[in-house]
Amino acid sequence: MTKRDADPDRSAALAQYRDRAGFYDLELALFRPIRREAIVRLALRSGDTVLDVGCGTGLSFEQLQQDIGAKGRIVGLEQCPEMLQQARDRIGQSHWKNVTTLCAPVEMAEIPVMADAALFHFTHDILRQPEAIANVVRHLKPGAHVVAAGLQWAGPWIWPINWFVLPAALHSTTTLEGLGRPWDKLAGLVGPMEVQARFLGAVYIASGVYGERPVGLRRRSKPKGDAVHARPPQGAAAAGLGQRHPARNGEFPIGRGVAKRA
Ligand SMILES: C[S@@+](CC[C@H](N)C(=O)[O-])C[C@H]1O[C@@H](n2cnc3c(N)ncnc32)[C@H](O)[C@@H]1O
Repeated sequence: MTKRDADPDRSAALAQYRDRAGFYDLELALFRPIRREAIVRLALRSGDTVLDVGCGTGLSFEQLQQDIGAKGRIVGLEQCPEMLQQARDRIGQSHWKNVTTLCAPVEMAEIPVMADAALFHFTHDILRQPEAIANVVRHLKPGAHVVAAGLQWAGPWIWPINWFVLPAALHSTTTLEGLGRPWDKLAGLVGPMEVQARFLGAVYIASGVYGERPVGLRRRSKPKGDAVHARPPQGAAAAGLGQRHPARNGEFPIGRGVAKRA
């Protein structure tokens, strides 16, 4: 067993991102469509509070801001000071007053809000730490939308894609453990997640809704029938996410492509 199969290594992760902070944004440019789709799946509304877990340099902030507006709030959790400094520079340059950043490992962060949504965008190390995801889930309101996206092992029918996944994962995570189903521990706390594959199976987007309240108290009302959102949020409607369909043979056609239940 190599260290790459073991638990995430915090000091290795700090070193990894300290060195990348200056050019990280360029490296992630390829995944811009994934970020966009992941944030749409958060189904944010004006005034929402959202946790950006492992926020890095704050690349998601701008789209989150567009969805939540000035009355909403973003809380960015990030352990690497060099990455977070880039995020803080971005906040300053954009004059955002509604973004709080915490420089701490997610598992130890004192999260100051109860959130309407949580984003885990390319945060494999965090998703493999039960204490980290438990700390996030403890700070979610019932009905909160949770989305995780990132690299995964492509299926055996398309294994050559893993020659891309392996170096990319070694570059950005400290463990390969769980790379077959990176969202599974999160789904264990949040509930069933719908999973979409992108980039020929090299990337997943998993989304779910945390512990719905009893009927009548739900924050987002769920009508009878197929639609999850009575009134699709703006971004989601544009991506065809307003109408979700019932499971067919364990698969969920959602927007583009086919999702499987986690
Ligand atoms: C690949 S980057 C993703 C950054 C951002 N979410 C994005 O999409 O651009 C992963 C980030 O997670 C952070 N990270 C890793 N483990 C962490 C932990 N336990 N607590 C907080 N941040 C962590 C790293 O420092 C790094 O900034």
